[in-house]
Amino acid sequence: MAEGCRCRIVAGNWKMHGARAALEALAAGLAARSAAQAESTPEVVVFPPFPYLSAVNQALGTGEGGGGIAVQLGAQDVSAHPQGAHTGEVSASMLADCGCSHVLVGHSERRASCGETDELVARKFARAVSGSLTPVLCVGETLSERNAGRTAEVVLRQLGAVLERCGADGFRNAALAYEPVWAIGTGQTATPEQAQEVHAILRAAIARADARIAAGLRILYGGSVKGANAAALFAQPDIDGGLVGGASLDPEDFWRIITA
Ligand code: 13P
Repeated sequence: MAEGCRCRIVAGNWKMHGARAALEALAAGLAARSAAQAESTPEVVVFPPFPYLSAVNQALGTGEGGGGIAVQLGAQDVSAHPQGAHTGEVSASMLADCGCSHVLVGHSERRASCGETDELVARKFARAVSGSLTPVLCVGETLSERNAGRTAEVVLRQLGAVLERCGADGFRNAALAYEPVWAIGTGQTATPEQAQEVHAILRAAIARADARIAAGLRILYGGSVKGANAAALFAQPDIDGGLVGGASLDPEDFWRIITA
């Protein structure tokens, strides 16, 4: 199934952790290591909390000038609206203005605690695409859904809402992240085989609409990725990198994942 050239991505979702000085230091350390790294490194993206986007962007800049990779910046959410009277929301153009190239859309924590529906997630995805950001669409089932044998149905429904609104073309400059809810922050990682099975289902769904786009689409796995399990996950044919929560706040372990 996996074909085409897909450069691996390792992304760090910092969620609502840290404070300015600590996140600046984390970013600067990562940028320095990445710049010093020679060839064959994955793309690296970090997703800090909104208030620290500019500070982290600046700290990442200190790593430029080396021969290695530049760490890219992403936001954890984007408004479905382009601008206007939407208190507390942040638009795609504002994110781009702060240096973001990527944005997470539909993270399970937002679906669960902010009531984000598939339809709203699809509108956010479309807004990111039209704002020239790279959306990372997150999908994943809960433990009870998995136990009921509904994993494929759930992830295909979540993906389907976006496909319906944006078509396969919407994924030309996007990534997908399979994040089983039961594996997030629990230390219980999906096995490489469990993750691969779902990644293949997701890629096949895109391929039914456009085989070329599906072949080039990066599908990340997220859910208790650590230095110790990253290599086995990334060795799967349809796993093109990781979306890392807790371990991305640990400079040593995050680096182990990046270089896995
Ligand atoms: P953990 O790596 O802490 O399980 O979090 C995964 C996640 O939600 C990344 O978006």
